[in-house]
Amino acid sequence: MTPDFKRTLVTAALPYANGPVHIGHLAGCYLPSDIYVRYLRSKGQDVVFVCGSDEHGVPITIKAKRENATPQAVVDKYHHMMKESFAEFGISFDVYSRTSSKTHHETASAFFKTLYDKGGFTEQVTEQYYDETAKQFLADRYITGECPNCGNPNAYGDQCERCGTSLNPTDLKNPKSALSGNPPVLKQTKNWFLPLDQLQPKIQAYLDEHKDWKTTVYGQCKSWLESGDGLQPRAMTRDLDWGVPVPLPNAEGKVLYVWFDAPIGYISATKELLPDTWELYWKSKKTRLIHFIGKDNIVFHCIIFPAMLMEHGEFIVADNVPANEFLNLEGDKISTSRNWAVWLHEYLQEFKDQQDVLRFTLCATAPETRDNDFTWKTFLDKNNNELAAIFGNFINRTIVLTRNYYAGAVPEAKAFTKEDIKVLEQMSTFPDRIGEALDQFKFREGLQEWLNLARLGNKYLTDNEPWKIQNDNPERVKTVMHLALQISVNLAILGEPFLPFTSKKLFTLLNVVPLKWNAARQNTNLHVGHKIDAVLSGILFPKMDQEVIAFQLQKLEKAKEAMLAANSLLEPAKAETSFDDFSRMDIRSGTIVEAERVPKTDKLLKLLIDTGLDKRTVVSGIAAWYKPEEIIGQQVSILVNLAPRKIKGIESQGMILMAENQAGELSFIAPTKGKIINNGDTIK
Ligand code: 2FM
Ligand code: ZN
Repeated sequence: MTPDFKRTLVTAALPYANGPVHIGHLAGCYLPSDIYVRYLRSKGQDVVFVCGSDEHGVPITIKAKRENATPQAVVDKYHHMMKESFAEFGISFDVYSRTSSKTHHETASAFFKTLYDKGGFTEQVTEQYYDETAKQFLADRYITGECPNCGNPNAYGDQCERCGTSLNPTDLKNPKSALSGNPPVLKQTKNWFLPLDQLQPKIQAYLDEHKDWKTTVYGQCKSWLESGDGLQPRAMTRDLDWGVPVPLPNAEGKVLYVWFDAPIGYISATKELLPDTWELYWKSKKTRLIHFIGKDNIVFHCIIFPAMLMEHGEFIVADNVPANEFLNLEGDKISTSRNWAVWLHEYLQEFKDQQDVLRFTLCATAPETRDNDFTWKTFLDKNNNELAAIFGNFINRTIVLTRNYYAGAVPEAKAFTKEDIKVLEQMSTFPDRIGEALDQFKFREGLQEWLNLARLGNKYLTDNEPWKIQNDNPERVKTVMHLALQISVNLAILGEPFLPFTSKKLFTLLNVVPLKWNAARQNTNLHVGHKIDAVLSGILFPKMDQEVIAFQLQKLEKAKEAMLAANSLLEPAKAETSFDDFSRMDIRSGTIVEAERVPKTDKLLKLLIDTGLDKRTVVSGIAAWYKPEEIIGQQVSILVNLAPRKIKGIESQGMILMAENQAGELSFIAPTKGKIINNGDTIK
């Protein structure tokens, strides 16, 4: 960590302005970064929080084509929508800029020019894919094909989303243009490359200094450096007409690579926010730079952007990159195109003033160390069993009793018992317990510690039962309620980073101006005689009904149905076949007893299948989806009377039947649960 730092610059990945914000974005980087920044602000530290829309690159132009709109219209629409949703959800950016801004174009151009003048690029004429129908080079996501690493048939030209490998379009097998669907041709073009191969020792040294990073982040970086031939030169320009123009003569029709210009967006946004002092945040060794991102952005923030910054020479590099893994939804990958998501703008409409329930749930289930799942059931449970039953119950009891017994005035604590002293001692440990977790980017742990403070308060009330002893021992009740009120105000202070809306309400309820972190080290924030609010409801989290989530689950069900309907449109039924033709096929149930890869192919497995009739060899193109060792014992359906044919010199005696989904993925068709199918049983 940067020693003796004086200030912190926190960046949150610039989201592409090509769709609304969903819970995956929030859990990945916007919520943790917001919690972190709010915590630092509460501690009185100098912190600046920057973000903005990423408005260039192929994701935008593809969306424009789909929506039959101009790229500018697309980014205008989504930029405003995202900015508004973030603000309404309490993501407290100091600036939310956009990469189409003048400042950004100037900053990115100047950055490129400096690197160019320093000889930081190699100029190379290479063969790139070109779509002859669309008359356009096919950069990045304009091209799809099979990942050379994991066999995913739908990898993009810049990255495989299944295995995370970063790719060049020419790495893909069976490439296809995303514009016309046609196979592309190769055509020569000139581009400027960042020679990452030459920069590898510097990057290596940089990463060696950061072994304290999250293991998932450090591990991914290491494997980048160590796999194959290590880092490879990467083109920093593209033959596209949407983006920051390459600021060189004879570079018409070329723009900066979106992953070159986007991270510079962090610098431009800081400039826009602080025109006079932005350099303090980017050029002083006393500044700590922290990038919050999702795991698919690791290579760009831990290797490519630092390499750019180091080569430029004037800027600091990241001190930490606390990337999160992915959040799934109800057991399935979040997908914009399949509408499998919880959209923030819809949530904000449907759950008015309940931002903190989602903030709490997303933080409590954040994919910090591995992918995690968001379910509506968890959302309901978190609201009812934790926010309402633990925190809300404690606050409501405290408020109601204070109003009933003392007309809302904080009573005096007369004499503390041993037990009270223990509670007081415990209370003052919470700022550090929560803070230490947040300092290490362990947001789930920090939130649990905060909830533990509410648990402490709840238990204290339950153990002392002031409602039972008020008649006999009113002096004791005063002490108990005094302490409960002090816990309440500390909950408002320490809960602010996680639940800012609730914290604000609680401060209002207690009738105090919002207090800062270190105030929670004391147990005397509410003075004797201070009047809490007289009328506001003390119920901060009403319980939710099952119906609330039933509605949300129905929405997801509809999305699934719409997807299936769309898919069935995509794959029309084949022409009619006769019953006789069908019955000539002899399909049996069998079991895979041996499996091995066919040498020198990526797709094929050689299987030995027990068909009940015999054991026979079948060559099957399923290697991209199944490892040989995983499928021994797998039951299959096999067409046994298919004429044998030679595949890669092996005689294949039949064919196994597989289901193929829209993404081209193959899977076995499993027997129904609880039914027994024996080898050799016929399939009709
Ligand atoms: O993955 C994405 O959504 C990118 N737009 C993130 C860019 S982060 C930064 F470099 F700007
Ligand atoms: Zn892959």
